[in-house]
Amino acid sequence: MKPRVAVFCSGRGSNMEALIRASQSADYPAEIVLVVSNKADVPALELARKLGVKALAVPAKPFGKDREAHERAIDAVLVAEKIEIVCLAGYMRLLTPYLVRRWTGRMLNIHPSLLPKYPGLDTHARALAAGERKHGCTVHLVTEIMDDGPILAQAEVPILPGDTEETLAARVLEQEHRIYPEALAALSARISLPEGGAKP
Ligand code: GRF
Repeated sequence: MKPRVAVFCSGRGSNMEALIRASQSADYPAEIVLVVSNKADVPALELARKLGVKALAVPAKPFGKDREAHERAIDAVLVAEKIEIVCLAGYMRLLTPYLVRRWTGRMLNIHPSLLPKYPGLDTHARALAAGERKHGCTVHLVTEIMDDGPILAQAEVPILPGDTEETLAARVLEQEHRIYPEALAALSARISLPEGGAKP
């Protein structure tokens, strides 16, 4: 059985699209069955539906300052949909320890830098300002520390003379779309192994 995967996003959804397209190959070892956004009316939700994947918003507003209550509502959806792995893909909301602990080892994130360098926002501008010669992206397991946790995959790109934030972001994004489906496939193959044994 392929693990059932949910993707969380808050905006454009290009990594979500890369994950869905990869999972639509018969030999891909995971199934993307749900997309969740903390915001209604974002392009990612519409795109997911067009690609044939159930997509819904769980807005944070009704929960006010109670971030954990918002996450409990999201978690109830994940449980109802029998989700086994969560991929954060441009999900622009810090998670509380509640949701992170619920999904330890089964929640991935993609971050546009070569972690541990440049956690947080504006990674491309910061790498350019620091005069870096290379930059890239990282897929990692999510822990309670933002943009931290065991690294599953990384890809490097060169920083070229004349690069702007936009040209660099585009070069990195191309790699994000490659390594995220690869990292999810590797994790899925691992967790679908029968307990303590190799695949028959
Ligand atoms: C990506 O650069 C991702 O690494 C970061 O947020 C951006 C989301 O873009 N976490 P998209 O929504 O996947 O197009």
